[in-house]
Amino acid sequence: MSNANNTPPRKSAQERVAAFLRSRRDAFTSGAEIGGSLGISRSAVWKHIKALERDGYVLEAAPSRGYRLLSAPDRLTPDGLAGAGGKRLIGRSIELHRETDSTNTLAMAAAARGAAEGTVVLAETQRAGRGRLGRSWCSPPGNVYLSVVLRPPVPVVRAPLITLMGAVAVASAVRRLPGLAAAIKWPNDIFLSGKKTAGLLTEMSAEPDRIRHIALGIGVNVNMPASALPPEVRATATSLSDEAGGPIDRTLFVRTLLEELDRWYRVFLTAPGDVLREWEALNMTTGRRISVSGPDGVRQGRARGIDAEGRLLLELDGGGIETVSAGDVTILKTPEPAA
Ligand code: BTN
Repeated sequence: MSNANNTPPRKSAQERVAAFLRSRRDAFTSGAEIGGSLGISRSAVWKHIKALERDGYVLEAAPSRGYRLLSAPDRLTPDGLAGAGGKRLIGRSIELHRETDSTNTLAMAAAARGAAEGTVVLAETQRAGRGRLGRSWCSPPGNVYLSVVLRPPVPVVRAPLITLMGAVAVASAVRRLPGLAAAIKWPNDIFLSGKKTAGLLTEMSAEPDRIRHIALGIGVNVNMPASALPPEVRATATSLSDEAGGPIDRTLFVRTLLEELDRWYRVFLTAPGDVLREWEALNMTTGRRISVSGPDGVRQGRARGIDAEGRLLLELDGGGIETVSAGDVTILKTPEPAA
């Protein structure tokens, strides 16, 4: 595990060589200059260059000119994320893991131990990523898996609004990428071109009248080709890179996401109605014919928006409005049955 917070951790010599080469961009730098700047010998520089190559860095070495960085592996680093939280609440402290079972599990445990509100837990892969309604969340490398510790001072009934707030933040972050007009399907699936690209899972510890803490978990398919997904979800899922037609800078995307989460969490605390309005503006469910499958079976009707608690208002085909708290929505292409 590594940390990226306002007091940057000590970097290893290898990380310092990588950072130095990155700072030189396209220019060649001699081993003597790298060593001189970092206070290490030329042979130590050579040893670290070889280790970086084994780690996925692509470097060009020219006999009389030195080394030049051609590409770095697509990996989130404490360096890249340092200061991502800045003076903000969300991301003031960031835990980065190569691999874990589930970032939500880690965030809930950290929160129970007293982790500060806004702490973010990130992982490159998850062995047992969890989705909504007891499903698993496929978590290969190349995507974003993160959970945020929140302690909102609001009644327990308002907790579902946190997930809607998260969906607004994720959709807003995706929409900052050129050409990616993300929309939200109730309650919190993020869609691009009719396919799911991100999902949110909120877990909570609460007393009857008070939220102790929440882990707001977010999974975004970023640089994974849809073909890497299990066959059963391949037809209905996509990734940012598939939609953008090229790789996405994950570090930049995580920084943008944390910025949007910070912004929308503050709106949630001060003017929750604005979150609901933005959710309505970004959602693709309201007004559509839908099928909802939930604990009480499957119902069909037309989506008529959400109430103040974020529940879906479903105008049933047979008449009457049903308020739905949990379930899976499918947007239907068929018209209403004849009366
Ligand atoms: C969904 O079913 O749409 C919700 C998926 C949520 C996945 C994220 S990935 C980070 C966090 N850790 C988990 O185990 N799940 C959430």
